[in-house]
Amino acid sequence: MENCIEMNDVTMSYDSSFALNHLTFAVQKNEIFGFLGPSGAGKTTTIKLMTRQLKKDGGTLRLFSKEIEETDCSINERIGVLSDNSGCYERMTIEENLCFFAKIRGVKKEVVPEILKKVGLYEDRRKSIKKISRGMKQRVVLACSLLHSPELLFLDEPTSGLDPATSRMIHDLILNLKAQGTTIFLTTHNMEEADKLCDRVAFINHGSLIECGSPLEIKLKHARNQIEILTADYQRVVISKDAAGMRQLLTLAEQKKLLTVHSLEPNLEDVFLELTGSELR
Ligand SMILES: Nc1ncnc2c1ncn2[C@@H]1O[C@H](COP(=O)(O)OP(=O)(O)OP(=O)(O)O)[C@@H](O)[C@H]1O
Ligand SMILES: [Mg+2]
Repeated sequence: MENCIEMNDVTMSYDSSFALNHLTFAVQKNEIFGFLGPSGAGKTTTIKLMTRQLKKDGGTLRLFSKEIEETDCSINERIGVLSDNSGCYERMTIEENLCFFAKIRGVKKEVVPEILKKVGLYEDRRKSIKKISRGMKQRVVLACSLLHSPELLFLDEPTSGLDPATSRMIHDLILNLKAQGTTIFLTTHNMEEADKLCDRVAFINHGSLIECGSPLEIKLKHARNQIEILTADYQRVVISKDAAGMRQLLTLAEQKKLLTVHSLEPNLEDVFLELTGSELR
């Protein structure tokens, strides 16, 4: 499988301390890659290196198989960015913002209605940015990042602070973009979001990668091989997933004392906490 991003042993520091500490990972073409970690882990810094807003101190970084230092501005036509400080012009309407950014991008303004429909803002297109909600603004910013149909899209916490309905709309949009062939690099604090959307995720803490794989792979790797049962007298009992445990289960079933049975796979948040001991906030 072709790689869109290849980071190898990358380090970067702002002052004296490492923001990224020997970071290595690759993102394949057309996957949704989740980059997960607590505040200050280095997620935005990583996006800034890949979008050439910052320079690394060491290691190699390749986008579309080309060393980042050797790329020129033409690479901006292939990538889109929704950053943590992306904004739009408050005094303009939604549509005017899109037309303005289309002009900057050298994209025909005829694509604007189509993009507005994609993000569910076509009906509201004449509303001034000043008067729209946070979730709508986020969708305007997202629409701006899609104007030139980028092959690779960087989304820095696209659903942070949004209500569940708007988040779901953005999730559906991300999945549609993937279906159309886009590669997506997504940072989030939200492990459920990552589990639902991502083909693979990387856990990052203090600038280092601590785990990488598909959400299922990671959960199974850290599973404790246990089953929790609820017995007829409402006792919760944890048994092991081996022959002895299964005999216990069978005995309870024969005695008609078995109410519920659950395999105890951890979720991504459990695994992250186990690996780091820190909270994901
Ligand atoms: N401009 C800067 N100058 C100095 N240090 C910085 C700067 N930007 C970030 N840092 C530091 O680098 C580290 C990584 O920050 P970064 O913004 O990449 O984290 P993050 O994972 O995106 O966090 P969040 O989830 O809060 O957005 C942090 O320790 C942060 O304090
Ligand atoms: Mg950030």
